[in-house]
Amino acid sequence: MIKKIAVYPGTFDPFTYGHLDVVRRASKMFSMIIISVAENANKTSLFNIKERKEIIEEVIINETKLDNIQIKGFNGLLVDHVKDEGAVAVLRGLRALSDFEYEFQMAGINARLSSEFETIFLMASENQQFVASRFVKEIHSLGGDVSSFVPGTVLRHLESKRK
Ligand code: PNS
Repeated sequence: MIKKIAVYPGTFDPFTYGHLDVVRRASKMFSMIIISVAENANKTSLFNIKERKEIIEEVIINETKLDNIQIKGFNGLLVDHVKDEGAVAVLRGLRALSDFEYEFQMAGINARLSSEFETIFLMASENQQFVASRFVKEIHSLGGDVSSFVPGTVLRHLESKRK
């Protein structure tokens, strides 16, 4: 069987049910999904890179039966990371219209930088259309209930961060 690897990059601050939905669906199409957590110097994150990777690892182990997932960190250009991993595709989730322009631009720029992989979009499932990490952080910091947006593992980490 030909091994087809896909990289699923993102900030994942924090990892949501929307992200998990993309991972679950894509894991049926590729032999390996690498969840690639970006260091992302342009954004101030709630969880540092080490914490974000550990949280995702816990979610995959505790809350799924998936056995073709790896979690890695990356720094620098996505196209270089994709090449290093030997991946044939980059995965991105797409919610409604608001994501389109940014994703369209990013996919176009990456295609200009490298023609060795395709960017593949999975439309967010109906019940995940409104989930966004930045809203999760805001709602949780203001005492709101985010349990329908993030896995239990992530919720526990958000709680301990708040304390
Ligand atoms: O979850 P996010 O924040 O939407 O993910 C954005 C991410 C990490 C995929 C993007 O910022 C990225 O690829 N960063 C790596 C640096 C890079 O390659 N930039 C050029 C892409 S246009």
